[in-house]
Amino acid sequence: MHRFLINDTAKHIGEKLTVAGWVNVKRAHGKIVFIDLRDRSGVLQCVFIPSNKEAYEKAQEIKPEWVIELVGQVVKRPDSMVNKNIATGEVELSVEGVNVLSKAETLPFAIETDGREINEEIRMKYRYLDLRRERLKQNLIVRHKVTNFVRNFFTQEGFVEIETPMLTKSTPEGSRDFVVPSRLHAGKFYALPQSPQQYKQLLMVAGFEKYFQIAKCLRDEDPRGDRQTEHTQIDVEMSFIEREDFMELYERMLIQMVQTIFPAKKIQEIPFPRLSYQEAMEKYKSDKPDLRKDPSDSNLLAFCWVVDFPFFEKDDEGKWTFTHNPFSAPKPEHMADLLQKKNIEKILTTQYDIALNGWEIGGGSIRNNTPQAIEAVFSVMGYDKKEITEKFGHMIEAYTFGAPPHGGIGSGIDRIIAILQNEPNIREVIAFPKTGDGRDLMMQAPSEIYPKQLKELHIKVSSDQPVKPLKVIQSKLKSKKK
Ligand code: AMO
Repeated sequence: MHRFLINDTAKHIGEKLTVAGWVNVKRAHGKIVFIDLRDRSGVLQCVFIPSNKEAYEKAQEIKPEWVIELVGQVVKRPDSMVNKNIATGEVELSVEGVNVLSKAETLPFAIETDGREINEEIRMKYRYLDLRRERLKQNLIVRHKVTNFVRNFFTQEGFVEIETPMLTKSTPEGSRDFVVPSRLHAGKFYALPQSPQQYKQLLMVAGFEKYFQIAKCLRDEDPRGDRQTEHTQIDVEMSFIEREDFMELYERMLIQMVQTIFPAKKIQEIPFPRLSYQEAMEKYKSDKPDLRKDPSDSNLLAFCWVVDFPFFEKDDEGKWTFTHNPFSAPKPEHMADLLQKKNIEKILTTQYDIALNGWEIGGGSIRNNTPQAIEAVFSVMGYDKKEITEKFGHMIEAYTFGAPPHGGIGSGIDRIIAILQNEPNIREVIAFPKTGDGRDLMMQAPSEIYPKQLKELHIKVSSDQPVKPLKVIQSKLKSKKK
C-alpha cells in the first residue's frame, strides 16, 4: 500500500489511492455520508455513497477520532462546493474501501477549537489529545523551524553543536538545583544543569572557539507564565571576541530568524536599541522594558539590549552576591577594582540582557579568563580559599592552562516562540509542560518510587506520605506472578 498524504491528493485527480488518518468530522446529507479525514498534512473530504455498499455500511458506525484507512478515487468537486480555505478544497475522495485501524472513545474535550476555553489541567492530563489541536500543532512546528534555523545559522557561522552532561555538579546560577542521588556513591548527589555555563566555558579552554547547543536547562523554581522547571536555551559561546562582536552576531541571528520564519512581524527598531541598566530602571522601572510604541499591534517586535548592570548586590543577609553570572568579567575599566576587591558597589559587569516586548529572552557576558579574577568574584561573595577550591577548583585550574578571552549568551527559546506565536505563556509552546506547582499531570510525575529503589539509592524518606500506593501495586504484581 502506498499511503498518500492528504495535502498531496489534490494533484491526483482521477486516480485511485489510499489515505489514512483521524476522523475529524462526520456528517450525513440525505443518503450521503461525509467524513473529513485528517492527517498531519491537512483535511480531506471523503464521500460515502450507498452504491458502494460495503464502505457505506462501515461508515455508519465510524465515529470522530477513529483512525481509518480509505481507498477511493480523487474527484473534482462541483464548482459550487469548492472550499478555498483548505489545500484539498477543490477535490474529494469517493470512497470505495474502508479499513478501521483503531477506534476511539469520545475525547474528554473539543480539539477543533483553539482550546483556550478548556480547563488547562484537563488539557495537560490529556496532552497527547490537546496536541491534536491545530493551534498547538502549529506552535510546535514553528518551534521546530526556529531551532532548525538557529542550528543552520550557527553552523554556517562555523559553530559546532556539542552536547554537555545532564548529570553534573551544582552550579551557582542563582536558582535551586534539582538533585539526583547516586547509587554507586552513597550519600552523594548529581545536580541537573541549570545551564551548560561551566561546560561551555571549558569548551573554550579546550579550543573549540565556537560552540552552541539547543540545551535543556533545569531549575527547581516555582513555574509561572514565563518560567518552567525545564526550559530550553539557545546556548552559545565564542572565543577571541569582545562584547560588541557577540551582541552584533546574536542580533543578526534574531533579525534573520524573524525575517525568514515570521515575515508578517515587524521589528520596531534595527539596530536594537541599547539601554544601560540605570536608564532602563529610571525610565521604565524595569530591566526588561517593553518598548513597543503600540502594544496592541500583535505583529510588532521591540527588541532591546540592556547593559552595564552592577556586578554585585547585597543579599538578604547583607552579603555581596552576583546579580547575573559569577563567571562574567567586569567591564575592563573595573577589573582593577575587582582584583583589589574595592569599590564593589561601583563595579559594572560585561553582562548584556536582551528583552523582547517586556520579556527577558536572553542574557550573556564576556567571562573572566584568569584564575585571579574568578577567585576574586567568589572572594567578594565571602567564600574562603578552601570553599573556592572545593566548589570551583576545576574552573580555576582550567584557566591556568591557557584560556582565550570568550563570551556568549543563553537565550530562552520557549519565551521567544511564545512571543512570536502571540501566546500568553510558554506552556503553549512546550509539548509536555508542567503545572504551576511543577507536576506533569499526564505522566503523574513526580511520583513515589519503590522501596527497593529507595534502598539502592541509600535514601530514607522522612515524611510518612510516600511509598504506600506502590506497596499495593507491588504486592498485586507478586500475586499475579503466583
Ligand atoms: P539566565 O539564567 O539569564 O542565563 O538564562 C538565560 C535565559 O534563559 C531563559 N530562562 C528561562 N526560560 C524559561 N523558564 C525558566 N525557568 C528560565 N530561566 C531562564 C530566559 C533567560 O534570559 N548561563 C547563563 C547564560 C550565559 O551567561 O551565557 C544563563 O543561564 O530567557
